[in-house]
Amino acid sequence: MRQDEDRTAGDRVEDGRTVDGRTEAEREDALRRSAAFLIDEALGFLFPAALRAAADVGVADHLADGPRTPAELAAATGTDARNLHRVLRLLATRGVVTEDGQGRFALAEAGQALRTGVPYSARAAVRMLTDITMWRPAGELTHCLTEGTTAFENLFGMPFFDHFAKDERTADVFHVGMAAMSDPENAPIAAAYAFPSTGTVVDVGGGHGGLLLEVLRRNPGLQGVLYDHGHVLAGHVLGAHEEVAGRWSPEEGDFFASVPSGDVHLLKRITHDWDDDECVTLLAHCRRALRPGGRVLVLDAVVPSGNAPHQAKALDLMMMASLTGRERTEADFAELFARAGLRLSRVIPTPTVLSVVEAVAA
Ligand SMILES: C[S@@+](CC[C@H](N)C(=O)[O-])C[C@H]1O[C@@H](n2cnc3c(N)ncnc32)[C@H](O)[C@@H]1O
Repeated sequence: MRQDEDRTAGDRVEDGRTVDGRTEAEREDALRRSAAFLIDEALGFLFPAALRAAADVGVADHLADGPRTPAELAAATGTDARNLHRVLRLLATRGVVTEDGQGRFALAEAGQALRTGVPYSARAAVRMLTDITMWRPAGELTHCLTEGTTAFENLFGMPFFDHFAKDERTADVFHVGMAAMSDPENAPIAAAYAFPSTGTVVDVGGGHGGLLLEVLRRNPGLQGVLYDHGHVLAGHVLGAHEEVAGRWSPEEGDFFASVPSGDVHLLKRITHDWDDDECVTLLAHCRRALRPGGRVLVLDAVVPSGNAPHQAKALDLMMMASLTGRERTEADFAELFARAGLRLSRVIPTPTVLSVVEAVAA
């Protein structure tokens, strides 16, 4: 094809200018900048890769007592000094660590929560979000586009949560990581909603129970039920807290089969895992199990309109790659509730990325 035939309409040249008013040189320059931008973006996956590597080998724990050279850190973490330096150098570009004049690296403010055992440690969450069970399906998003189905099953041979029920390593990484991801958001969410003073709160798919703990702590007249798979309940955190002793019980079960009865059903980061029909089944079980005057609280991101960045837009692609679910708008939630015999009554924002989407019997 001749060069002038190989042009799109926007590229067409009339009187030395392209149709959009720019000279050919300006247009070429813009394309060069576009290429540089796209290439930088395509390399963006290497930052979470570096973050993961640092979290894996425990870099932050070895920086807790002050700055260290890559050689000192490598000796402490049993890693290769030159490669560790390269990882630190990339992390420093985003303020996770800083480097001083003697080439010693220190934890910056943004890196503090990478330490183990500090309040709101994000180390397990970082490892969960960058685990191969998340990472590999995300690399196969093209499959989701061409086949319209999740990539996880194609790669791992079974649905997401079935895999976790069978594979101890994966289950541990996911549930411990999930609890770590939830930890900083549980107290603000519990504080954002006016719970009834008495009755039973059921945390449906409550994982290790961090949210239920915060709700019971703030509301001494409430009882709680932590509902999840047995192997997940085994890792619960509630037993370690005297102030909720005798006010909660674990209950093992499948929320697609039934849900324990209660006055408030919490579903935190649950509906986004499942497609609409699955959500309707689950919500209809909640509706049936709801005592008179009760409410269902979906605690999930509500995707805002417009194209401003929002964590839900990224997590939505994780749901696409690994599960059958998706992040939803307020209108999507209203429709799901209506199909399950419920009515969306309010959406209450919280200081976290999640909102409380409240539903009552229709
Ligand atoms: C994304 S995690 C959310 C955990 C917790 N609500 C939180 O926000 O940290 C989903 C939870 O649903 C549980 N789950 C998945 N399928 C389930 C089922 N069929 N019955 C009961 N629990 C289930 C998982 O074990 C997991 O704890």
